[in-house]
Amino acid sequence: MKKLVKGIALAAAAAMIVPLAACGGARGGDSANGGKSSGPVTIGISMPEQQLERWQIDGTNLKKQLESYGYKVTLQYADGKTDLQSSQIQNMANQGAKYIVIASIDGTATGAAAEQAASNGAKIIAYDRLIMNTDAVDYYTTFSLTEVGKLQGEYIEKKLGLKEGKKGPFNVELMSGSPTDNNAKYYYEGAWSVLGPYFKSGVLQSKSGKVPKSTADYQSIGIDNWDRQKGQAEMENRINSFYNNGTKLDAVLAPNDAIALGTVNAVESAGWNYYPVITGQDAEKANVRAIFQGKQSMTVYKDTRKLAKTTAELIKDLVDGKKPKAKDTFDNGKKKVPSTLLTPISVDKENAKQELVDSGYITAKDAGI
Ligand code: BGC
Repeated sequence: MKKLVKGIALAAAAAMIVPLAACGGARGGDSANGGKSSGPVTIGISMPEQQLERWQIDGTNLKKQLESYGYKVTLQYADGKTDLQSSQIQNMANQGAKYIVIASIDGTATGAAAEQAASNGAKIIAYDRLIMNTDAVDYYTTFSLTEVGKLQGEYIEKKLGLKEGKKGPFNVELMSGSPTDNNAKYYYEGAWSVLGPYFKSGVLQSKSGKVPKSTADYQSIGIDNWDRQKGQAEMENRINSFYNNGTKLDAVLAPNDAIALGTVNAVESAGWNYYPVITGQDAEKANVRAIFQGKQSMTVYKDTRKLAKTTAELIKDLVDGKKPKAKDTFDNGKKKVPSTLLTPISVDKENAKQELVDSGYITAKDAGI
């Protein structure tokens, strides 16, 4: 009798194992999946907004790649609203998403939603922007943040001939990214690592006086939400107040392409017969056209196809029960988050065709060539 009971118990256990073993592939064996395997692996993607071309491309690429592994993917955009993003993340978790990829609007505000989702058993992957001050972030994939600022700073350094010893003084206006985005801090540190010494020696100066006292004070020149119109209004103010009397503006550190376009607009409405050196980031179509037209000087190209691929592969490793490749770490104030940092590329008129068009990132028609 005893033997029989044991036999039944074993058979029952074996029967329970069968569906798990049979699930394989898209159904995944990772513990985050709870071993339940009641359907395909479900993944949520939470993107900040659709205004900027890059987030649309990021979202679409990531969804496509994850679906190619057989996963079920929900992609949502939060329209730049932090509350909306938090409730979208919570809904994804409530509906059973086991992996949630988040590009935060506000890296600190997203923490609570990430915690709730993590307590529901979801693994959280911070995408491009880190989620701050919480344990509830498992991985982070992005581009080297300081490198973006450094490439912009080096471009200004090169175009003004600073390394060759040109003494100026040159007038440069500085802006940083959104005060709520951790990326903006690292971006500015990178830019300042190149430009700072020239400001200190007086080769560079800002007529507006808007130069943070330290890199920690980057928010004082931050443009909310990296917004084009806000960037434009800021540059119109500075131009009207300090450069409308023939004073030459030599360069503008514009943190991303949206703000670069705002700067181009501000310069055009000032009616000058020249464009200052204007930096940018993202290689958006309109900006690549502006580069070929000689209005914007450069952009920092971050191949979002690679970021999507890296993130999707990381999730696949987790689903398959493998340890993902993440050789860097990034401190979010609470923990050192295992991270992958991709390499951004400086692009101007000289290499834009090769880097962006020939690589298939944008078409020749979209680049206006
Ligand atoms: C991203 C940039 C983008 C900016 C505005 C940053 O966090 O790294 O690529 O231009 O946000 O959306």
